[in-house]
Amino acid sequence: MAPVLSAHLHVTAMLVQLLVLPGLAAAGKLLVVPVDGSHWLSMREVLDSLREKGHEIVVVAPEIGLHIKPSENYVMKFHPVNFTQEDLDEHFQAFLQDALQEGSSLERFLKIYQHMKRLSDMAISNCARLLYNKSLIQYLQESNFDAVLTDPVLLCGQILAEHLAVPSVFFLRGMPCSLEFEATRCPSPPSYVPRMLTDLSDNMSFLQRVKNLLFEIPNTFLCDFAFQPYEKLASEFLQRDVTAPDLLSHASIWLLRLDFVLDYPRPLMPNMIFVGGVNCVPKKLPQQVQDSNRDFSGFIPQEDL
Ligand SMILES: *[C@@H]1O[C@H](CO)[C@@H](O)[C@H](O)[C@H]1NC(C)=O
Ligand SMILES: *[C@@H]1O[C@H](CO)[C@@H](O)[C@H](O)[C@H]1NC(C)=O
Ligand SMILES: *[C@@H]1O[C@H](CO)[C@@H](O)[C@H](O)[C@H]1NC(C)=O
Repeated sequence: MAPVLSAHLHVTAMLVQLLVLPGLAAAGKLLVVPVDGSHWLSMREVLDSLREKGHEIVVVAPEIGLHIKPSENYVMKFHPVNFTQEDLDEHFQAFLQDALQEGSSLERFLKIYQHMKRLSDMAISNCARLLYNKSLIQYLQESNFDAVLTDPVLLCGQILAEHLAVPSVFFLRGMPCSLEFEATRCPSPPSYVPRMLTDLSDNMSFLQRVKNLLFEIPNTFLCDFAFQPYEKLASEFLQRDVTAPDLLSHASIWLLRLDFVLDYPRPLMPNMIFVGGVNCVPKKLPQQVQDSNRDFSGFIPQEDL
């Protein structure tokens, strides 16, 4: 296990340099497996500054996408998919239309569910096309990357990282069902860590704690269901039985786009680093704030979506 540990330490050191010590970092070679949509808009900001510091970046993505387009800033490796741009745009528009409608009927819920299922099926089929593309995988293997940077919400990047035996760095806002805390065995006591959609704070009465606990139950089923196709794909491709929490637990570093200004205090694991609410392109501060020559940036929510 020593080589694995030393690889992890190496990557940790590299990342700390990348993030904290501009100018001191040695150039590294980074494989990026992004998730399309707003996820990409946030990640692109990071890649641009990594590139400015002289790091070599290779991005692997499906050839049809929403925001991920050919760019001269990085080496982009696109792989073929089995749908057209029109198919994707159509599905996505229909999804947005139903998702942004008023009201909460069962019919609307089912429609949204169907759209999400279809988009998720597309993502899984893309992932399989990437993993089973022999020439592309061989190119990636021969490139000898120092690290894989990925948004783990689709798990494809982590499956690839394990196949290439390259340590992975996750960059995300959060996982469905708070799977990041389960996978890392991070304490998440329901007595004071409020669950998603509960509208609770970290200071709960007894009954609120009961509610918080109850909100956790559906998560178990939903996430099992959502990640099953990836578990199946990963188990076939890596030729061993793996679960989603297994895969996630192998991340070297979690860069979380969270901030205790916006999020309640909670326990974290040592490899979880809060990088602030980096979401899409940072907003420009109002002129009078800039003029006042003080740093208010942490107090302005940068959620664009
Ligand atoms: C694999 O990906 C490359 C691009 O990276 C593409 O040119 C090639 O057609 C793909 N092969 C298959 C079998 O899809
Ligand atoms: C694309 O491929 C997947 C399997 O990889 C299949 O389930 C799906 O129906 C295909 N889609 C189209 C539009 O052919
Ligand atoms: C928690 O909430 C209770 C009731 O609302 C309040 O009395 C108490 O001061 C709060 N504790 C903290 C630490 O904010």
